[in-house]
Amino acid sequence: MNDYLRIPGLIDIHVHLRDPGQTDKEDFNTGTAAALKGGITTIFDMPNNLEPVFSVEKLSEKSKIVSNKALCDYGFFFGSDGENLAEFEKAAGKTIGLKLYLSDTTGKYTVTDESQIYKIFKKWTKKKPVVVHAENEKVGLAIKIAYDCGNILHITHITGENELAQIMDAKKMGMKISSDATPHHLFLSLEDKERLGKYAEVKPPLVSKRNQAYLWNHISDIDCIASDHAPHMKKEKESEISYYGMPGLETMLPLLITAFHDGKLTFEDIIRMTSHNPSKIFNLKRDDSSYAEINSEEEYLIENETLFTKCKWSPFAGWYVKGKIKRVFLRGTRVYEDGKILVRPGFGKNIK
Ligand code: DOR
Ligand code: ZN
Repeated sequence: MNDYLRIPGLIDIHVHLRDPGQTDKEDFNTGTAAALKGGITTIFDMPNNLEPVFSVEKLSEKSKIVSNKALCDYGFFFGSDGENLAEFEKAAGKTIGLKLYLSDTTGKYTVTDESQIYKIFKKWTKKKPVVVHAENEKVGLAIKIAYDCGNILHITHITGENELAQIMDAKKMGMKISSDATPHHLFLSLEDKERLGKYAEVKPPLVSKRNQAYLWNHISDIDCIASDHAPHMKKEKESEISYYGMPGLETMLPLLITAFHDGKLTFEDIIRMTSHNPSKIFNLKRDDSSYAEINSEEEYLIENETLFTKCKWSPFAGWYVKGKIKRVFLRGTRVYEDGKILVRPGFGKNIK
């Protein structure tokens, strides 16, 4: 017997595993191993691969390539540049939602033309969310268009009052709208830029302590926490070009448990934001046989060397966190224990 705490396996709704196309940064095997180590039993993979997932053919190709590498369960987002509307109907059945870039980031798949954004929202099924990367004034635009077209809208990686206040207003108007915040926006701020240098570069950018405090003060209004795990190699991060993004799968839950110890949120908040709301928003079946066992009192040091992610760095390296993930079960099978993956690649299943 032990007195480990059991929490539902996390559903991380925002992950970039780079497979296929950029498997030097991450692949589905290393990425899903990192997920399990972090207590995450389901990940939703983003479509901004080197060759983006804008067609059913690309989606099938990705599905085939990763199926015998996955260790945790997964779903895919479909992407759009506005030129692939004919693919939507077929793609919707095979994906968990549409991901749309309204602001610039890795891959440069931003859709800027308002009439084109309208066409995309109109055409996409009203039964599955449109997840938007929307910064600044694009937040209001996404809400307006989703309202006009009747879509389910999810604003990902919110960074402060601008997004959350508008989302709360839209909720009051009866819109089906939700949000997530990332660990890097909750635990890092502009003050970390000096220490991290180019490793701090991420989209949306890190925010001020004031904005960060706003997020923590309104944690009960934020629907989900998602890692936005976006690995880039150390040599890329240190180069003159900007590679936006940071890894986060292995550190998200320990950071949240540490925040619980610091009195910043409750365990119920953690479960609400990492499993209950993701299930509700993306219409997943509740699964009591996928869970993590945690020693919530065990303190340990985050170190680059022991990370499972291929990029082998974390903006949180050198931090002590309190909350060690001991064992993880997926669909009743013990899949992770004390630093070891216990199942073969391919054990993870596509949930659609
Ligand atoms: O910093 C980021 N990196 N933000 C994103 O939205 C995409 C991500 C990536 O894919 O590298
Ligand atoms: Zn992302």
